[in-house]
Amino acid sequence: MRCGLILVAIFAVTAGAATPDLVLEATPERLARGEYLVNNVVDCAGCHSQRDVSKFNVPTLPARRHGGGLLFRDVCDTCFTPNITPYALAEWTDAEFLAAVTEGVRPDGSKLSARMPYLAFAQIDREDIYAIIVYLRSIPPVAGGPYPRDFATDYVPDFVPTGVMRRPEDDATEVERGAYLVGIAGCNGCHVGPPGSAVAGIALAGGREFAFPGRGLHRAANLTSDVRSGIGAWTRESFVARFKAMGSPAVQDAAWKPGEPSSVMPWWFYAGMTESDLGAIWAYLATVPAVEHMVVKWEPLAGPMPLINWVDIAGNASAAR
Ligand code: HEC
Ligand code: HEC
Repeated sequence: MRCGLILVAIFAVTAGAATPDLVLEATPERLARGEYLVNNVVDCAGCHSQRDVSKFNVPTLPARRHGGGLLFRDVCDTCFTPNITPYALAEWTDAEFLAAVTEGVRPDGSKLSARMPYLAFAQIDREDIYAIIVYLRSIPPVAGGPYPRDFATDYVPDFVPTGVMRRPEDDATEVERGAYLVGIAGCNGCHVGPPGSAVAGIALAGGREFAFPGRGLHRAANLTSDVRSGIGAWTRESFVARFKAMGSPAVQDAAWKPGEPSSVMPWWFYAGMTESDLGAIWAYLATVPAVEHMVVKWEPLAGPMPLINWVDIAGNASAAR
């Protein structure tokens, strides 16, 4: 892993067995940190909420945030995400919540689909994961579900013990802060060079495809410092301003118009980060070695190959219509 993060080995644990008595105190610090992370940095809502497909940026339906019910139709026709508000999970212990989020194990011992990125979440500083859990337990219940979630069993990998990224100390450099934010925000999950391409597996080289028949083929941008094909010609100001502009009501309330581009980039989510944090992300990205890789970010799509269909549980407007 690039970026000089300190990787600390953690040891394999089963179903929260290492922490059965874990009780997370809901301190004001944890609640505030968790609220900030869950609403702007570590995106649970994008998968655990129904989305407004009538909008250009497909934001979550505000009243449905974290209430589950998003369909992954590329996996199966009845593969919906669960509700993660207290409506569904109030009876879970903190240890059970932690095991689900970082080990992919449910309280009954069954495994979650790897569509739930618990392998990535296992790498987030434990104190930040605690803050996320404490905050999610504090939000008002959103009624909904249980939904069918018949994720294929062959989509269940074994838990692989991994390392954790340490949250930078207060005196960390801006680049260190940015590296941590990029890591926990999962930017590279989308902006990585896709398999089979000339930049396969290269961090932040862009090109990963998101196919939505009827809505277009989106490709993640090249975020390396290449001047021509990446964001090397951007400035810190233009980088921060892009997030703030894309998150503004003018863009977020805009309707999607058939035949025109929409955006898969979760601007609706990340735009709420502080300018200091967005600036730190910029500072880190500016240190990523340039990779020349021209990406066509959107084109009309012929042929059905959906990765995620933004079809909600009520069968509302579909990306595939
Ligand atoms: C890329 C999509 C995705 C993201 C992002 C995501 N999840 Fe999930 N999550 C899922 C899916 C899909 C399942 C259900 C998997 C299954 O049933 O096998 C799930 C299951 C869960 C469960 C188990 C609930 C239950 O009833 O069994 C919890 C808890 C959970 N997620 C919490 C979170 C939290 C907290 C975050 C953010 C830190 C998050 N998820 C982010 C897709 C996602
Ligand atoms: C769900 C996938 C996804 C995630 C996660 C994601 N992006 Fe993106 N991003 C995209 C796609 C796809 C595009 C291409 C344009 C579009 O669809 O709007 C894009 C475009 C961008 C652009 C505009 C680049 C240009 O050339 O106009 C920037 C900047 C950016 N992303 C930064 C980030 C950062 C920083 C993160 C992490 C905090 C991040 N992205 C996380 C999918 C993602």
